[in-house]
Formats: sequence, C-alpha cells, structure tokens
Amino acid sequence: MIAACERSLKRLGTDRLDAYLLHWPGRHPLEETIAGFSTLKAVGKILAWGVSNFDVADLDRALAIAGPGQIACNQVLYHLQERAIEHAVLPWCQANGVALVGYSPFGSGDFPDATSAGGRVLARLARAHGATPRAVALAFLTATPGTFTIPKTARPERARENAAAAGISLTPEDLAALDAAFPRGPKPRSLPML
Ligand SMILES: NC(=O)c1ccc[n+]([C@@H]2O[C@H](COP(=O)([O-])OP(=O)(O)OC[C@H]3O[C@@H](n4cnc5c(N)ncnc54)[C@H](OP(=O)(O)O)[C@@H]3O)[C@@H](O)[C@H]2O)c1
Repeated sequence: MIAACERSLKRLGTDRLDAYLLHWPGRHPLEETIAGFSTLKAVGKILAWGVSNFDVADLDRALAIAGPGQIACNQVLYHLQERAIEHAVLPWCQANGVALVGYSPFGSGDFPDATSAGGRVLARLARAHGATPRAVALAFLTATPGTFTIPKTARPERARENAAAAGISLTPEDLAALDAAFPRGPKPRSLPML
C-alpha cells in the first residue's frame, strides 16, 4: 500500500495527501493496512487516513487496532433514497469522533424527479430557501453534526450550486417533511455500497 500511495502522489503531482482512504474491507489483514497508514503518516506522505464502506463490525475492529483518534472518516453510500447508515454506522461514527462522509449524494444519476412526491417536497423547500432541490438534499444529508458529503460534478456552476447547501439551515419542520418523503426504511442485513 505504501507503493500504491507513492504512485498516487506521483500521478497527482504532490508530495502529500490530506487524507488517504481504504476503499473497502478487503482480504488483506487490517492490522497490516493500518500499520501502513501509520508509516505513511509518520513520514509525512499523508496527514490523515480513513476507511470507506465499513460497517459497525469493521469499524469496531479498526478502532481496536488503531486506537482512538486515528480514523479520520468513514466514507459510505448516503443519499435521500438510501439512508441505511443512519441506523448504526452514523451513531457509531458520532460516538467515536469519526467523520461520516456520504458518497453518491445524488444517488448516482437517480435524483428524485421533480414530478415525484419527494421531488415536489424538495422543490417546495428549495423555493422557501431560495436554493435548488439538490442543494436542499445536500443540506439534509449534512444536517447531523459530523456528517459531510461529496457530490461529484465536472461543472463549476454546479459545484457552486452544490456548495450553496452549506448556507441552508433546514428547520425541524423541513427535516420532518424530508424524513417523511424519503423514509429511512428498515435496517438492512449488510451495509449497502456501490
Ligand atoms: N467510496 C466508495 O466506495 C465510492 C463509491 C462510489 C462513489 N464514490 C465517490 O462519491 C462521489 C460521488 O459519487 P457519484 O458520482 O456516484 O454520484 P453523485 O455525486 O450522487 O452524482 C454525480 C452526478 O450528478 C451530477 N451532478 C452533480 N451536481 C449536479 C447539479 N448541481 N445539478 C445536476 N447534476 C449534478 C453529475 O454530473 P456532472 O459531473 O455532469 O455535473 C454526476 O452525473 C465521487 O467522488 C466518487 O468517487 C465513492
């Protein structure tokens, strides 16, 4: 993994990464991966490390190996129509000071249509806040302290639209309306991921 990190540094044309993530629990011993992260941090090639697609049992194991205060984040699938992480992963991250980073916040191309029931709720709140439905969705996904989201766009104007979510303060009524329109659903047997 140290060689992989060095290849990434070279491709990116930089000498250090702010955060380096393990993409998902894999077949390599987690102890070795975390030891690799510690080495990379000690030599200044990364400033922090985190994990991705880790369920609670995986997080427990990582915490037991690394100790508190080491895991910067857990990057997991999180959008209005996929809220499974709220059952256990999000509470675990909050309790252990690990940032929760939601990926694919627009559902990877399946954002609620404006004519759907949920889309109409988003449009109403967007009008009320002078924002767009997507910005409202991002505000909902980051309303809980310690949660972040990484919408992907290749267009600057859309990046600006998405960033405007940080300025939206959803009221408890707004949050309840979105919760009703996009229910959390039951806890799945395993963590959904892409
Ligand atoms: N850790 C993991 O296992 C994992 C798995 C999947 C994805 N990810 C990461 O999560 C991030 C996002 O994932 P994603 O691409 O699957 O899904 P996403 O962010 O839910 O959706 C991206 C799509 O939304 C469009 N979009 C973005 N802003 C928009 C706006 N304001 N208005 C209209 N369309 C907009 C983008 O198109 P344009 O680019 O044309 O604007 C793109 O097609 C990526 O950085 C990815 O690397 C991580």
